[in-house]
Amino acid sequence: MTKQRDGFASSLGAFTATVASAVGLGNIWKFPYLAGVNGGAAFVLTYLLAVALVGLPILVAEHAIGRKMRKDAVASYATVVPREGFWVLIGYAGVVAAFLIMAFYSDVAGWVFSYIVKSFMAAFRGTGPLSAQDFAALASGTWEPLIWQIGVVVFVSLIVAAGVSKGIEAATKLTMPILLALLLLCDIRALTLPGAFKGVTFLFAPDFSKLSGTVILSALGLAFFKLSLGMGTMTTYGSYMPESVRLVPNAGRVALADTLVSILAGLAIFPAVFAFGFEPASGPSLLFISIPAVFSKMPFGNFFTVLFFLLSALAATGAMISLIEVPVAWLSGKMKLPRPKAVIITALGIIVLGIPATLSLGPWKEVQLFKMGFFDLFDYIQQNLLLPLGGLAIAIVAGWRLRKSDFLNELAGQEKGKKWYLTLVYIFIKYISPALIVLVFLNGFGVFGK
Ligand code: PFF
Repeated sequence: MTKQRDGFASSLGAFTATVASAVGLGNIWKFPYLAGVNGGAAFVLTYLLAVALVGLPILVAEHAIGRKMRKDAVASYATVVPREGFWVLIGYAGVVAAFLIMAFYSDVAGWVFSYIVKSFMAAFRGTGPLSAQDFAALASGTWEPLIWQIGVVVFVSLIVAAGVSKGIEAATKLTMPILLALLLLCDIRALTLPGAFKGVTFLFAPDFSKLSGTVILSALGLAFFKLSLGMGTMTTYGSYMPESVRLVPNAGRVALADTLVSILAGLAIFPAVFAFGFEPASGPSLLFISIPAVFSKMPFGNFFTVLFFLLSALAATGAMISLIEVPVAWLSGKMKLPRPKAVIITALGIIVLGIPATLSLGPWKEVQLFKMGFFDLFDYIQQNLLLPLGGLAIAIVAGWRLRKSDFLNELAGQEKGKKWYLTLVYIFIKYISPALIVLVFLNGFGVFGK
């Protein structure tokens, strides 16, 4: 007899693990800085549309395919359409994307973890807040960022090595509520500052002149990145879901919770940024330079800075767990490696790829490919190419290559009766979402002119 496959023990666990994959540095670091750089509300609105019209249907499709196949992403796409083995490319592209993302993500996560310690020390010693120079020294260093990065990869690997229900599910059930509570605390603090309203307007009052093809493509790419889509993560998590999970409502709640966290993060950051006259468009360093500076100006600011980085670290951990799980599930499923061995190999691969990403912000600044250093290149490839194209391929598999009744049966699961929203979601998966991806993609690359 084969050993029973590990999986999520309950619907609630399936929900928290999925939310934990979605919620991450994407909400707290990428979403605010992209909104800041791209002019605020118009970008936010485009992003929300991308989540609703494309992200949500594809999230459902991935969960359904994963649960139907009960295998890792590579094996799932290799066999999901009989006699069309080439869809396995989705699985392999997903494994590649997981390594590329982890390479730069673990660098940023390393900064976050180090900022918990650094901001705590600064508060304790009563020195001023961490400055732009402090951040530059960290990010462009050699050993310091590498050590934090490797430490983070080892830490997350240990959780993943403990297994799906005992590691992933247990950890995320603990971290998600704490994260939300900390975030709400920071929100209350930021929103009660004098002048906070400017930040709120920045997030919610759109100026559509800021939109362009590339901005829309990056909003779509962000929607994929945010919901962990297009690379088999959600397929893998779908394969761990018990039959009792109602896929459509579950995915709806995940997308809603994730979006809410992004907005709450924006509401903790921008009101404070505006209240103290900082620059919202400062880019990837927004979190690390503005937050300590801005928070330090308010009462109990040092305390809130530590809290903010603590919650960011929790968020990053849940997301990294799911990134690592893609190659781990493949290595331990298809390649039949014991789980700990699969985790060690994956972690080593991430570290090998992570080193050039990290050093590209410092000593290897001059090394460029397509006018980008490794950190930016890895991010660009995953966000603008791999994830949207992976998502498109998944929509084609679900909408056009699987038998409609099979797919709908998997979507319905144990839900009784015909549910109207199942058909609606199916129409999105089959027509609307893939069409939008193609349009946004061509537009982003200037096919329709500038
Ligand atoms: N969704 C995560 C975030 O927003 O930080 C990042 C991510 C996790 C992307 C898992 C892709 C993935 F498969």
